[in-house]
Amino acid sequence: MIKKSRRPVFIVIVCAILLAGCTGGNDYVDMLKEKNPGYERHISGHFAPMWEPMARQMVQEYGLGKGIAVDIGSSSSPFLIELAALTEMRGYAVDINPWALRLLGVFVDEAGLTGRVIPVEGDWQDLPFSDNFADFIFSRGTIPFVPDQVQAIRETYRVLKPGGIAFIGHGGFGTLIDQEDRELLVQWRLGWDAGGRDRPEGWDGPKEGMTELAMQAGLPDGSYKLITESPVGWWLEIRK
Ligand SMILES: C[S@@+](CC[C@H](N)C(=O)[O-])C[C@H]1O[C@@H](n2cnc3c(N)ncnc32)[C@H](O)[C@@H]1O
Repeated sequence: MIKKSRRPVFIVIVCAILLAGCTGGNDYVDMLKEKNPGYERHISGHFAPMWEPMARQMVQEYGLGKGIAVDIGSSSSPFLIELAALTEMRGYAVDINPWALRLLGVFVDEAGLTGRVIPVEGDWQDLPFSDNFADFIFSRGTIPFVPDQVQAIRETYRVLKPGGIAFIGHGGFGTLIDQEDRELLVQWRLGWDAGGRDRPEGWDGPKEGMTELAMQAGLPDGSYKLITESPVGWWLEIRK
């Protein structure tokens, strides 16, 4: 009787298992992307050219190098991934959407930044950090969606270290972005006001009113100021 080798069968089974594993992984990442409504726009889509220049701007303007950075309403935080690549900072990405944070975990590992950018599920109105925790706090495009915006500013100030800086934006694309990319984003954004597209629910305010929020939150006089990016974009800079 001829003894048949079982090796080919074994190899086929191993390949099938590996293939199923790979496909399963992709399915999981695809599912996470689907569960993140802003993914196509904020991370892979037309916002994509904004993040590296935005991180570079923060490094240049505020001399960031070491310490702790927090991105609030981070989604899958392309900002912290860029900041971690430019500096030695450790970043904490806070969002109320756990799917965005799971997707961030995948991106962080892919970028070789495991442990340098840490996803944290949380609400801006009750940040999961101790007092005086962060050297730098960033937030973009999230303040309009928070029910108690005064409380969010209070929490930001509590978590900031003495000597720390927060940069909280309502819109805005930063100053170092390529001008052509910027123009596209500005026109896209102005399309809402021109009636070309529906304005996302909750987007209105606070714009210039962010200084009023800071006052109501009881921040010391002189610790905050408004930075305007014409024609769209408002940032509240807070120094503790
Ligand atoms: C318009 S997206 C902005 C994402 C990103 N920062 C950007 O600029 O592209 C708003 C994000 O804020 C998150 N978010 C909304 N309310 C929040 C809250 N109270 N605390 C933390 N994150 C919140 C949403 O889940 C979403 O990821």
